[in-house]
Order: sequence, then structure tokens, then C-alpha cells
Amino acid sequence: MTVIAVIGSQWGDEGKGKVVDFLAERADYVARFNGGNNAGHTVINEFGTFKIHLVPSGIFAQNTTGLIGGGVVIDPAVLLEEIEMLNKAGVNVDGRLWVSPRSHIIMPYHKILDGLYEEAKGAGATGTTRRGIGPVFADKVSYNGIRWTDFASDMFEQRLQVQLVLKNKIIVALGGEALKFETVRDEYRGYYAKLNPYIKELFSLVQDGIKTDKTFLLEQAMGTFLDTDWGTYPFVTASTTIPSAASAGLGIPPKYINNVVGVTKAYTTRVGAGPLPTEILDTKSAEYEQFGEVAATTGRIRRVGWLDLEIIKTAVLLSGMTEICLTKLDVLSGLKELQVCIGYKVDGKSVGYTEVDAYGLDKVECVYQTVPGWNEDISKAKSFEELPANAQKYVKMIEDAAGVPVKWIGVGPARDETIRR
Ligand code: GDP
Ligand code: IMO
Ligand code: MG
Repeated sequence: MTVIAVIGSQWGDEGKGKVVDFLAERADYVARFNGGNNAGHTVINEFGTFKIHLVPSGIFAQNTTGLIGGGVVIDPAVLLEEIEMLNKAGVNVDGRLWVSPRSHIIMPYHKILDGLYEEAKGAGATGTTRRGIGPVFADKVSYNGIRWTDFASDMFEQRLQVQLVLKNKIIVALGGEALKFETVRDEYRGYYAKLNPYIKELFSLVQDGIKTDKTFLLEQAMGTFLDTDWGTYPFVTASTTIPSAASAGLGIPPKYINNVVGVTKAYTTRVGAGPLPTEILDTKSAEYEQFGEVAATTGRIRRVGWLDLEIIKTAVLLSGMTEICLTKLDVLSGLKELQVCIGYKVDGKSVGYTEVDAYGLDKVECVYQTVPGWNEDISKAKSFEELPANAQKYVKMIEDAAGVPVKWIGVGPARDETIRR
């Protein structure tokens, strides 16, 4: 049996959607196990261009079954929209997409509270996606959550009633408008009726898959440094993003996770607040222009920075990474020189990522190595040998620092714009 976890080694948006899409051809199951629709995964293939938030990005491969594990939080309106969008594009998910009844539901008050908390924090705000992620996970771990299973057991109304008493008090105190029980109940009953055919306990399916030697492809949402515990807290997301999360979030015993693909952008981006040591602040510079991206979920402009090897090396160790998929190497073409951060210093002394907190990380001095760039357009390259010598050196430098092989290199956003080594 093979279990491959695909994880982002930076602050999200490394290109996980694309990587899961091309690895899915050899997978029986493709699964999400953490986060929610704060994720925005771009997939470009023969069916079109998609920004996917909840359905696993490997669903386009004919023989895969998509699983949304109990570790995922679900905004039902978003999931229904996505199912409809996929069906319209000719990707039928009926009978091959299953949602765990253990997954928690994002309720309207979670989204309202997300906004209210952010506004209360003012300049210290996290810059969340405002999808209700922090509040729904807070309810999950404080036993206040509502799950799909509550509909089946008829606990939904009772639990909703209690939550509305609690949440309306906060909402009204902060100047918002109280939510009406009947309105929320009817709306969510409607969602349940439509999603019910997709809801199924995943335990025996996953266990049978393990017994019968199936291949599982696990699609992480967010990135290593948005992890609640190991990320730049409090500028993180509300779920565990390192591969161990797949164990709780899907029911795969940790000993079976045998491959960890670290999706690594050839430079760095971050959306929202928090430290980004290699950030490029000169908005007129060529590199700022070239690295610029628009966020797939919120449409915000992503912050950009040079490649940070201290971050990559830490991600390798935290996740047990076995191979790297380097993405967006093509974006570096045309820059005469590239800066690569090879470590941090504080008061002249070297410090590692784990030795400083988020506020400390914001103040570290990056030690840069300047490496020569290349001019050639590499988007048509099909092999490593076709890449310009300096691009090859850039890849090897990452490999040497990380201590794991770069097995794939992305030279464009579409599925086939990938070099396999
Ligand atoms: P995810 O959240 O990790 O799935 O990443 P996003 O989809 O949010 O952001 C990655 C962006 O980079 C998307 O616009 C992708 O289409 C694009 N992308 C992925 N890999 C490559 C690549 O190798 N080259 C280029 N030029 N774009 C890429
Ligand atoms: P994918 O899967 C990049 C960031 C938000 C914010 C912080 C907390 O597409 O890589 P949240 O809404 O989760 O409470 O916001 O986390 N964030 C992401 N940044 N990519 C993502 O997902 C993200 N999901 C959350 O911008 O800084
Ligand atoms: Mg994304």
C-alpha cells in the first residue's frame, strides 16, 4: 500500500492543486484531511481551469475516489457549488466523492465571528480569509461544533439552539444582528438534504483500502508554516497542516504514510499578516512584478519574497519530506541575479526558525547568497538537461540544502508543464 502526502513547504499556495492533479493518475483515493474552504487550489488540465476549495484536486483522474475526511471543516454552500461546477465541466462526482459525517460544519455565525475578531484586533489582525475557519475549529475543540452526523441523529436543532443563544450574545454585543433560529435551521436542513447522498463514514473504506493495497494521495491544505503549532503563531491557520494531521483527519495510521512530497515554490509568497523574512518590499522592482500573484480564495494580492532555505529545511524535518516538487521555476526566468536566504542572524549570531517566535522572525536579518539567474524561457522544457545551466544549479542548491531529491519541476501552471526527473 502506498500513502503519499502532498504538503506545502512554505506559507501556502505552493501549487499543491496542480501537483495533486498530476499525481492522481496513479491514485485510488485522493483525500483532503485538514482545513476548509480557506484553501484555494488551482488545477489546469484538459477539463479547464479550476479554483478548488473543498473537493480533492485529484478528482479529475477517472479512476480516483475523492474523500473529504473528518478533519476538514465544510461550508456546505461552497461544497455544493463546487460539485455543481465539476458536474458541469464533465467531471461527475456522484458515487465517487464521500464526505465524512465527522466533519464539522461552518455555520453563518462562524463567518460573522471571524470578521468581528479580525476587526477587534485592528493592526494585529491575522488577515484571515474570513471563511469562519478559526471560529469553527474553536467550536470543534470546545465541544460546541455541529457535525453532519447531528442531522442523522436529530441532534442538529438542539445543538443549533444552544449555539445561537451563545453566539447571538457576542454578535449583538459587538454591534451585529442576531441570527434567527428558523432561518438558519431551514437553510442548513436544505444543504443536508442535498449533501446527504455524499455523506458516508469513511472508516471501513479507508481500512479496506489499506488491506487491499490501494494508493492514497493525501492533499494538505495551507502550508507548513501556517500550522497551528509549528507555524508563525498567531499568524497561522486553525488546523494542523503537517502530514500527521492526515492520521486524525482521515483515519490513516501514521505508520502508513510512506511518501511525503513537499511542494516548494521557487520563491516565497504569503497572504495575510505575519512574518515573511525574505519579503520584497520594493513594488517597483522586477522581481516584485514577476513574483506577483492573486490569491485563489480571496482575490487578495499575495506578498512575495526570495526563496528561504531555512524555511524549506525546517519543513523537511517537520514533515519527514521524502521528495520535493519545485514549482514556478519558470517565473524566475529573466532575472539577472537571484537572492537566496541561507540562514538568519540576530545581533550577528545565527538563529534557526524554531529559535524565534513570529515577532522575532519578523526582525531577523536574512543572510543572502546571490546566485546568477537565466534569461531563457523554460516553459517548454521537458527534461532537466534542457534547463539552462544556472537553472539546474538553482535546483541542485535546493536539493543540497534540503537533503531530499527534487523529483518534479514545474515550468508552467498546466498539468503537463512539469519536468519529471
Ligand atoms: P495551492 O493552494 O498550493 O494549490 O496553490 P494555488 O493554486 O493557490 O497557487 C499556485 C499558483 O501557481 C496557481 O495560480 C497555479 O496555477 C500556479 N502554478 C502552479 N505551478 C506552477 C508552475 O510550475 N509554473 C507557473 N508559472 N505557475 C504555476
Ligand atoms: P492553500 O491551501 C495561503 C492564511 C490566511 C491567513 C491565515 C489564517 O490555498 O495553500 P484562516 O482563514 O485560515 O483563518 O486564515 O492563513 N491562509 C492561507 N494562505 N494559502 C492557503 O491555503 C491559506 N489558507 C489560509 O491568508 O493569513
Ligand atoms: Mg492556494
